[in-house]
Amino acid sequence: MYHSAQGVHTKQAHKGIPEGAVEEEQGRGGFFGRVSHLIRKEQSTRWKKIEGPLKPRMFDLVKCAHTSTRQRLFYNQDVVLYSQWIKPIAASQKDLRAFRNADGDMIYFAHIGTGKLLTEYGIFTYRPGDYLVVPKCIAHVVLPDLDSQFFLIENLSGDFREPDRGIAGRHAVYDIAQIEQPDLAGLQTHLQTSGQRCLEVEVKHTNEITRFEYSDCLFDVIGWKGDFFPFKLNMDQIMPLMSHRAHVPPSAHTTFVAPNFVVCSFVPRPLESDEDALRVPFYHQNIDYDEILFYHNGDFFSRANLHSGMLSFHPAGFPHGPHPLAKDKVKGKTHTNEYAVMIDTRRPLLRDPVMDSLEFADYWKSWQV
Ligand SMILES: [Fe+2]
Repeated sequence: MYHSAQGVHTKQAHKGIPEGAVEEEQGRGGFFGRVSHLIRKEQSTRWKKIEGPLKPRMFDLVKCAHTSTRQRLFYNQDVVLYSQWIKPIAASQKDLRAFRNADGDMIYFAHIGTGKLLTEYGIFTYRPGDYLVVPKCIAHVVLPDLDSQFFLIENLSGDFREPDRGIAGRHAVYDIAQIEQPDLAGLQTHLQTSGQRCLEVEVKHTNEITRFEYSDCLFDVIGWKGDFFPFKLNMDQIMPLMSHRAHVPPSAHTTFVAPNFVVCSFVPRPLESDEDALRVPFYHQNIDYDEILFYHNGDFFSRANLHSGMLSFHPAGFPHGPHPLAKDKVKGKTHTNEYAVMIDTRRPLLRDPVMDSLEFADYWKSWQV
Protein backbone atom coordinates (compact mmCIF):
# COMPACT_ATOMS: atom_id res chain seq x y z
CA MET A 1 0.00 0.00 0.00
CA TYR A 2 1.16 3.54 -0.64
CA HIS A 3 0.90 6.58 1.58
CA SER A 4 -1.99 8.90 0.84
CA ALA A 5 -3.74 11.92 2.33
CA GLN A 6 -6.95 13.86 1.84
CA GLY A 7 -8.36 16.99 3.41
CA VAL A 8 -6.96 18.41 6.64
CA HIS A 9 -3.97 16.41 7.80
CA THR A 10 -0.76 16.87 9.72
CA LYS A 11 2.76 16.55 8.34
CA GLN A 12 4.07 15.13 11.61
CA ALA A 13 1.91 12.81 13.68
CA HIS A 14 0.87 14.15 17.08
CA LYS A 15 1.95 17.72 16.27
CA GLY A 16 0.24 20.73 14.76
CA ILE A 17 -3.30 19.40 15.13
CA PRO A 18 -5.64 22.24 14.11
CA GLU A 19 -7.09 24.12 17.08
CA GLY A 20 -10.33 22.52 18.26
CA ALA A 21 -9.82 19.35 16.16
CA VAL A 22 -8.81 15.91 17.38
CA GLU A 23 -6.28 13.42 16.00
CA GLU A 24 -7.19 9.73 15.99
CA GLU A 25 -4.69 7.06 15.02
CA GLN A 26 -6.00 3.90 13.38
CA GLY A 27 -3.20 1.36 13.20
CA ARG A 28 -2.50 -2.30 12.57
CA GLY A 29 0.11 -4.46 14.25
CA GLY A 30 0.36 -2.66 17.59
CA PHE A 31 1.85 0.68 16.43
CA PHE A 32 4.26 -1.08 14.03
CA GLY A 33 1.98 -1.69 11.06
CA ARG A 34 -0.01 0.32 8.53
CA VAL A 35 -1.44 3.40 10.13
CA SER A 36 -3.47 6.51 9.37
CA HIS A 37 -4.12 9.66 11.37
CA LEU A 38 -7.62 11.05 11.08
CA ILE A 39 -8.33 14.65 11.98
CA ARG A 40 -11.83 14.78 13.42
CA LYS A 41 -14.05 17.62 14.57
CA GLU A 42 -14.71 15.77 17.83
CA GLN A 43 -13.21 12.84 19.67
CA SER A 44 -15.01 9.64 18.65
CA THR A 45 -15.12 8.39 22.24
CA ARG A 46 -18.16 10.67 22.73
CA TRP A 47 -20.66 7.79 22.40
CA LYS A 48 -23.99 8.44 24.10
CA LYS A 49 -25.19 4.82 24.22
CA ILE A 50 -23.51 1.42 23.87
CA GLU A 51 -25.59 -1.73 23.41
CA GLY A 52 -23.79 -5.07 23.56
CA PRO A 53 -20.83 -6.51 25.44
CA LEU A 54 -18.04 -4.46 23.82
CA LYS A 55 -17.22 -1.34 25.81
CA PRO A 56 -14.39 0.27 27.74
CA ARG A 57 -14.29 -1.17 31.23
CA MET A 58 -12.67 -0.16 34.52
CA PHE A 59 -12.14 -2.39 37.55
CA ASP A 60 -10.97 -1.78 41.10
CA LEU A 61 -8.49 -4.46 42.19
CA VAL A 62 -8.35 -2.86 45.65
CA LYS A 63 -11.64 -4.72 46.15
CA CYS A 64 -10.06 -8.10 45.30
CA ALA A 65 -10.40 -10.53 48.18
CA HIS A 66 -7.22 -10.75 50.29
CA THR A 67 -7.03 -14.51 49.86
CA SER A 68 -3.73 -16.11 49.01
CA THR A 69 -5.08 -17.96 45.99
CA ARG A 70 -4.44 -16.52 42.56
CA GLN A 71 -7.54 -14.63 41.49
CA ARG A 72 -7.86 -14.84 37.73
CA LEU A 73 -8.84 -11.54 36.11
CA PHE A 74 -8.46 -11.85 32.31
CA TYR A 75 -7.32 -14.67 30.08
CA ASN A 76 -6.89 -16.04 26.59
CA GLN A 77 -4.86 -18.94 25.19
CA ASP A 78 -1.59 -16.93 25.45
CA VAL A 79 -1.80 -15.07 28.74
CA VAL A 80 -3.60 -15.17 32.07
CA LEU A 81 -3.66 -12.17 34.42
CA TYR A 82 -4.24 -12.59 38.14
CA SER A 83 -4.24 -10.64 41.37
CA GLN A 84 -2.67 -12.44 44.31
CA TRP A 85 -2.33 -11.36 47.92
CA ILE A 86 0.31 -13.18 49.94
CA LYS A 87 0.72 -12.74 53.71
CA PRO A 88 3.88 -13.21 55.83
CA ILE A 89 4.23 -16.63 57.44
CA ALA A 90 4.68 -17.09 61.18
CA ALA A 91 8.30 -17.15 62.38
CA SER A 92 7.61 -20.58 63.87
CA GLN A 93 6.70 -22.02 60.45
CA LYS A 94 9.83 -23.64 59.06
CA ASP A 95 8.47 -25.94 56.35
CA LEU A 96 7.82 -24.24 53.03
CA ARG A 97 5.81 -25.30 50.01
CA ALA A 98 7.20 -24.18 46.66
CA PHE A 99 5.20 -23.52 43.50
CA ARG A 100 6.28 -24.70 40.05
CA ASN A 101 4.29 -23.61 37.02
CA ALA A 102 4.55 -26.08 34.15
CA ASP A 103 1.93 -24.12 32.18
CA GLY A 104 4.01 -21.02 31.59
CA ASP A 105 6.47 -18.33 32.63
CA MET A 106 5.30 -16.01 35.40
CA ILE A 107 5.88 -12.35 36.06
CA TYR A 108 5.14 -11.35 39.64
CA PHE A 109 4.70 -7.59 39.43
CA ALA A 110 5.01 -6.37 43.02
CA HIS A 111 2.23 -3.80 43.49
CA ILE A 112 2.12 -3.60 47.29
CA GLY A 113 4.49 -4.95 49.93
CA THR A 114 8.06 -6.10 50.38
CA GLY A 115 9.64 -9.46 51.00
CA LYS A 116 11.70 -12.25 49.50
CA LEU A 117 11.35 -14.62 46.59
CA LEU A 118 13.16 -17.93 47.06
CA THR A 119 13.98 -19.89 43.92
CA GLU A 120 16.10 -22.94 43.13
CA TYR A 121 18.61 -20.50 41.55
CA GLY A 122 18.85 -18.13 44.53
CA ILE A 123 16.99 -15.52 46.51
CA PHE A 124 15.64 -12.07 45.60
CA THR A 125 14.28 -9.30 47.77
CA TYR A 126 11.30 -7.46 46.29
CA ARG A 127 9.68 -4.05 46.64
CA PRO A 128 6.86 -2.24 44.84
CA GLY A 129 7.54 -1.78 41.14
CA ASP A 130 9.60 -4.98 40.78
CA TYR A 131 9.03 -7.30 37.86
CA LEU A 132 10.05 -10.73 39.18
CA VAL A 133 10.30 -12.99 36.14
CA VAL A 134 10.12 -16.70 36.99
CA PRO A 135 10.47 -18.93 33.93
CA LYS A 136 8.34 -22.03 33.46
CA CYS A 137 9.02 -24.96 35.81
CA ILE A 138 11.30 -23.13 38.28
CA ALA A 139 10.29 -23.94 41.86
CA HIS A 140 9.82 -20.82 43.95
CA VAL A 141 8.33 -19.52 47.21
CA VAL A 142 7.19 -15.96 47.92
CA LEU A 143 7.93 -14.94 51.52
CA PRO A 144 6.49 -11.50 52.26
CA ASP A 145 7.82 -9.26 55.05
CA LEU A 146 4.63 -7.20 54.66
CA ASP A 147 1.25 -8.17 53.18
CA SER A 148 1.88 -8.15 49.46
CA GLN A 149 -0.32 -7.81 46.40
CA PHE A 150 1.01 -9.02 43.07
CA PHE A 151 -0.29 -8.41 39.57
CA LEU A 152 0.59 -11.72 37.93
CA ILE A 153 1.21 -12.23 34.23
CA GLU A 154 1.26 -15.89 33.22
CA ASN A 155 2.74 -16.41 29.77
CA LEU A 156 1.34 -19.52 28.06
CA SER A 157 2.70 -18.59 24.63
CA GLY A 158 6.48 -18.93 25.12
CA ASP A 159 9.16 -17.13 27.07
CA PHE A 160 9.57 -13.46 27.94
CA ARG A 161 12.14 -11.72 25.75
CA GLU A 162 13.72 -8.28 25.65
CA PRO A 163 12.06 -5.77 23.31
CA ASP A 164 13.60 -4.95 19.95
CA ARG A 165 15.33 -1.63 20.60
CA GLY A 166 16.07 -0.94 16.92
CA ILE A 167 17.97 2.27 16.22
CA ALA A 168 17.89 3.23 19.90
CA GLY A 169 20.56 0.57 20.54
CA ARG A 170 20.71 -2.34 22.93
CA HIS A 171 21.24 -0.28 26.09
CA ALA A 172 18.13 1.86 25.61
CA VAL A 173 15.03 1.53 27.81
CA TYR A 174 16.94 -0.67 30.23
CA ASP A 175 20.52 -1.86 30.07
CA ILE A 176 20.73 -5.63 30.30
CA ALA A 177 23.24 -5.06 33.14
CA GLN A 178 20.29 -3.73 35.17
CA ILE A 179 18.75 -7.22 35.22
CA GLU A 180 19.22 -8.59 38.72
CA GLN A 181 20.15 -12.25 39.06
CA PRO A 182 19.11 -14.53 41.90
CA ASP A 183 21.59 -14.68 44.81
CA LEU A 184 22.47 -18.33 45.40
CA ALA A 185 24.83 -17.72 48.34
CA GLY A 186 22.15 -15.45 49.84
CA LEU A 187 19.61 -18.28 49.57
CA GLN A 188 21.89 -20.69 51.41
CA THR A 189 22.50 -18.09 54.14
CA HIS A 190 18.75 -17.42 54.41
CA LEU A 191 17.95 -21.13 54.81
CA GLN A 192 20.66 -21.57 57.44
CA THR A 193 19.73 -18.54 59.52
CA SER A 194 15.93 -18.98 59.27
CA GLY A 195 15.91 -22.76 59.65
CA GLN A 196 13.37 -22.92 56.81
CA ARG A 197 13.21 -25.99 54.55
CA CYS A 198 11.30 -26.54 51.33
CA LEU A 199 9.91 -30.07 51.57
CA GLU A 200 7.04 -29.83 49.14
CA VAL A 201 6.46 -28.48 45.67
CA GLU A 202 3.06 -27.81 44.17
CA VAL A 203 3.12 -28.21 40.39
CA LYS A 204 0.55 -26.66 38.07
CA HIS A 205 0.25 -28.55 34.78
CA THR A 206 -2.74 -28.00 32.48
CA ASN A 207 -4.26 -26.12 35.43
CA GLU A 208 -4.24 -29.29 37.56
CA ILE A 209 -2.25 -29.29 40.80
CA THR A 210 0.04 -32.14 41.85
CA ARG A 211 2.10 -32.09 45.05
CA PHE A 212 5.57 -33.65 45.30
CA GLU A 213 6.95 -34.25 48.81
CA TYR A 214 10.57 -34.61 49.87
CA SER A 215 12.20 -35.63 53.13
CA ASP A 216 14.87 -32.92 52.83
CA CYS A 217 15.09 -29.41 51.39
CA LEU A 218 14.53 -29.07 47.64
CA PHE A 219 16.56 -25.85 47.57
CA ASP A 220 19.91 -27.70 47.62
CA VAL A 221 21.55 -26.25 44.50
CA ILE A 222 25.24 -25.53 45.14
CA GLY A 223 25.91 -23.83 41.80
CA TRP A 224 24.53 -23.21 38.32
CA LYS A 225 25.43 -21.74 34.94
CA GLY A 226 23.40 -20.88 31.84
CA ASP A 227 21.03 -18.33 30.38
CA PHE A 228 17.79 -19.74 31.80
CA PHE A 229 17.16 -18.30 35.25
CA PRO A 230 14.71 -16.05 37.13
CA PHE A 231 15.49 -12.34 37.16
CA LYS A 232 14.29 -9.03 38.50
CA LEU A 233 13.88 -5.55 37.03
CA ASN A 234 12.35 -2.59 38.84
CA MET A 235 10.34 0.11 37.09
CA ASP A 236 12.86 2.64 38.47
CA GLN A 237 15.52 1.00 36.30
CA ILE A 238 13.59 1.80 33.12
CA MET A 239 14.87 4.78 31.13
CA PRO A 240 11.78 5.76 29.14
CA LEU A 241 12.34 6.18 25.44
CA MET A 242 10.87 9.48 24.34
CA SER A 243 11.14 12.50 22.14
CA HIS A 244 11.15 15.90 23.83
CA ARG A 245 9.34 17.24 20.77
CA ALA A 246 6.46 14.86 20.00
CA HIS A 247 4.56 12.00 21.60
CA VAL A 248 6.01 8.53 20.96
CA PRO A 249 3.66 5.53 20.70
CA PRO A 250 3.13 3.13 23.63
CA SER A 251 5.23 0.50 21.85
CA ALA A 252 8.29 2.60 22.78
CA HIS A 253 7.58 1.63 26.38
CA THR A 254 7.74 -2.14 25.81
CA THR A 255 9.55 -3.92 28.64
CA PHE A 256 9.03 -7.60 27.78
CA VAL A 257 7.84 -9.32 24.64
CA ALA A 258 6.04 -12.68 24.46
CA PRO A 259 4.99 -14.39 21.21
CA ASN A 260 1.42 -13.07 21.32
CA PHE A 261 1.47 -10.16 23.76
CA VAL A 262 3.69 -7.42 25.15
CA VAL A 263 4.24 -5.97 28.62
CA CYS A 264 4.86 -2.21 28.65
CA SER A 265 5.79 0.11 31.53
CA PHE A 266 4.73 3.72 31.85
CA VAL A 267 7.07 5.58 34.20
CA PRO A 268 7.58 9.29 34.97
CA ARG A 269 8.97 11.32 32.08
CA PRO A 270 9.08 14.95 30.91
CA LEU A 271 6.13 16.13 28.85
CA GLU A 272 6.67 17.08 25.22
CA SER A 273 7.94 20.66 24.97
CA ASP A 274 7.13 21.73 21.38
CA GLU A 275 4.48 24.41 21.40
CA ASP A 276 2.24 22.50 18.98
CA ALA A 277 2.89 18.99 20.36
CA LEU A 278 0.09 16.83 21.71
CA ARG A 279 0.89 16.42 25.41
CA VAL A 280 -1.63 13.73 26.27
CA PRO A 281 -1.81 10.27 24.65
CA PHE A 282 -3.44 10.45 21.22
CA TYR A 283 -6.85 8.88 20.57
CA HIS A 284 -6.25 5.59 18.85
CA GLN A 285 -7.68 2.35 17.60
CA ASN A 286 -5.02 -0.29 18.23
CA ILE A 287 -6.83 -2.47 15.73
CA ASP A 288 -5.09 -5.82 16.28
CA TYR A 289 -4.74 -5.75 20.07
CA ASP A 290 -6.82 -5.84 23.25
CA GLU A 291 -5.35 -3.61 25.95
CA ILE A 292 -5.15 -3.87 29.73
CA LEU A 293 -3.70 -1.06 31.81
CA PHE A 294 -2.91 -1.64 35.48
CA TYR A 295 -2.47 1.58 37.44
CA HIS A 296 0.34 0.89 39.92
CA ASN A 297 1.19 4.23 41.46
CA GLY A 298 1.37 8.00 40.99
CA ASP A 299 -0.82 10.65 39.41
CA PHE A 300 -2.59 9.25 36.35
CA PHE A 301 -2.67 12.30 34.14
CA SER A 302 -4.71 11.02 31.21
CA ARG A 303 -7.83 10.17 33.25
CA ALA A 304 -9.84 11.57 36.11
CA ASN A 305 -11.06 9.67 39.20
CA LEU A 306 -8.39 6.99 39.12
CA HIS A 307 -6.56 5.48 42.03
CA SER A 308 -3.72 3.06 42.43
CA GLY A 309 -4.82 -0.56 41.99
CA MET A 310 -7.37 0.08 39.25
CA LEU A 311 -7.31 -1.76 35.94
CA SER A 312 -8.79 -0.67 32.62
CA PHE A 313 -9.77 -2.83 29.65
CA HIS A 314 -9.85 -1.29 26.18
CA PRO A 315 -10.39 -4.08 23.65
CA ALA A 316 -10.10 -3.70 19.90
CA GLY A 317 -13.22 -2.49 18.10
CA PHE A 318 -13.44 1.14 19.15
CA PRO A 319 -11.04 4.02 19.80
CA HIS A 320 -9.82 5.07 23.21
CA GLY A 321 -7.74 7.88 24.57
CA PRO A 322 -7.52 10.50 27.28
CA HIS A 323 -10.53 11.82 29.11
CA PRO A 324 -11.76 15.25 28.03
CA LEU A 325 -10.48 16.85 31.23
CA ALA A 326 -6.94 15.49 30.73
CA LYS A 327 -5.94 18.36 28.41
CA ASP A 328 -6.64 20.82 31.23
CA LYS A 329 -5.12 18.55 33.86
CA VAL A 330 -1.82 18.53 31.99
CA LYS A 331 -1.61 22.34 31.66
CA GLY A 332 1.23 23.77 33.75
CA LYS A 333 2.78 20.33 34.23
CA THR A 334 6.28 19.60 33.02
CA HIS A 335 6.43 15.88 33.86
CA THR A 336 4.21 12.84 34.14
CA ASN A 337 4.29 11.05 37.46
CA GLU A 338 2.58 7.77 36.71
CA TYR A 339 3.61 4.15 37.03
CA ALA A 340 1.44 1.74 35.08
CA VAL A 341 1.76 -1.69 33.47
CA MET A 342 0.16 -2.28 30.08
CA ILE A 343 -0.56 -5.67 28.52
CA ASP A 344 -1.44 -5.65 24.82
CA THR A 345 -2.63 -9.00 23.46
CA ARG A 346 -2.99 -10.17 19.86
CA ARG A 347 -5.90 -12.45 20.69
CA PRO A 348 -9.06 -11.17 22.40
CA LEU A 349 -9.15 -11.31 26.19
CA LEU A 350 -11.97 -12.88 28.17
CA ARG A 351 -13.06 -11.72 31.62
CA ASP A 352 -13.24 -13.95 34.65
CA PRO A 353 -16.76 -13.81 36.14
CA VAL A 354 -15.29 -12.26 39.33
CA MET A 355 -14.61 -9.07 37.37
CA ASP A 356 -18.33 -8.21 37.44
CA SER A 357 -18.05 -7.54 41.17
CA LEU A 358 -15.03 -5.25 40.68
CA GLU A 359 -16.36 -3.22 37.76
CA PHE A 360 -17.03 0.50 37.81
CA ALA A 361 -20.22 0.30 35.72
CA ASP A 362 -20.38 3.86 34.35
CA TYR A 363 -16.80 4.01 33.09
CA TRP A 364 -17.92 3.93 29.44
CA LYS A 365 -19.66 7.29 30.01
CA SER A 366 -16.53 8.98 31.31
CA TRP A 367 -15.59 10.58 27.97
CA GLN A 368 -18.85 12.55 27.89
CA VAL A 369 -18.24 16.20 28.72
FE1 LIG B 1 -4.17 2.15 23.97
